[in-house]
Amino acid sequence: MSQEKVLLLGAGGQIGVELTEQLRKKFGADNVLPTDIRAEHPLLESMGRYAVVDALDTQKIKELIQEEGFTQVYLLAAVLSATGEQNPQLAWKVNMDSLLGLLEIGKELKLNKIFWPSSIAVFGPTSPKQNTPQSTVIEPSSMYGITKYAGENLCAYYNKKFDMDIRSIRYPGLISYKSPPGGGTTDYAVDIFHKAIAEGSFTSFLSEDTYLPMMFMEDAIRATIELMDAPKENLKAQGGYNLSGMSFSPKEIAAAITKHIPSFTIDYAPDFRQQIANDWPASIDDTQAQKDWNWKANYDLPAMVKAMLVGVKDTAHV
Ligand code: NAD
Ligand code: SER
Repeated sequence: MSQEKVLLLGAGGQIGVELTEQLRKKFGADNVLPTDIRAEHPLLESMGRYAVVDALDTQKIKELIQEEGFTQVYLLAAVLSATGEQNPQLAWKVNMDSLLGLLEIGKELKLNKIFWPSSIAVFGPTSPKQNTPQSTVIEPSSMYGITKYAGENLCAYYNKKFDMDIRSIRYPGLISYKSPPGGGTTDYAVDIFHKAIAEGSFTSFLSEDTYLPMMFMEDAIRATIELMDAPKENLKAQGGYNLSGMSFSPKEIAAAITKHIPSFTIDYAPDFRQQIANDWPASIDDTQAQKDWNWKANYDLPAMVKAMLVGVKDTAHV
């Protein structure tokens, strides 16, 4: 098999920085190029070559792929749920135009593989709330969720119609310390660690009993790479794969933090993000991912909290 060359679009965010790190370990630093719309990205630039690319600039992306011979593209550029609810037109434009543009390029240049992330946000108030199955009623209520569900359908269409290989995961809320989250409803579960360490208290924008599906970033990156390595014939899911890590509420994560920082306190001031969370699943059934590519998460709530407290403290001193 010839050497794969990987291009990442929107790599400057919460997922892209850590995915770049792991893909470089797998394919070699010179074979993986992270790009983002940000003119400067000190963190990515400190890790190696970085380029500024607008994920909506299909002409530039096409030229880059042709010039450098990229065989796989990971499209991570997006407007997330909270920002998307405040600017729905921007969410539609960035999330949909970037995907459609890339799918057309992939078709024309015959890319080996494309990765495009979906989200638990595809599910809405009419989906089962507990252990939400892979295939069920899907009627998203946020603009972000609408773009993710439309994107899943676009990917399925291109896969079938043009025999392409586009793979996708419905990530839960991701929790990490290397690169900050960018405007999601689950971001509270990252902020809480920074505030717990710096100030000893935290005000949650979700109410105390709002359960959401979550996952530690190390698991999410491993899942992404395992899915991309899986034999194509094994992948039977319609749409992005459901992926389960853990499920907790603000009250439960606060209690888990209190085991390490006994003086930590939390209070609650729900805002517009509460409505987004209310319509999402509380937990996810990922039986299909287990079956098709042997998926299994390593981190539960106590293990994640321990890793986050160490990681946030370490990076705060860098
Ligand atoms: P993020 O907001 O942290 O990062 C997105 C990056 O895209 C940012 O660096 C931003 O500068 C860049 N970007 C925005 N517009 C761009 C454009 N026009 N051209 C190029 N870059 C642009 O997001 P993330 O958390 O890393 O998410 C990546 C993907 O995973 C998104 O599709 C998101 O919907 C999905 N996802 C994330 C989560 C999560 O919890 N982080 C959960 C489910 C799905
Ligand atoms: N973490 C993401 C968000 O809250 C879910 O896709 O927007």
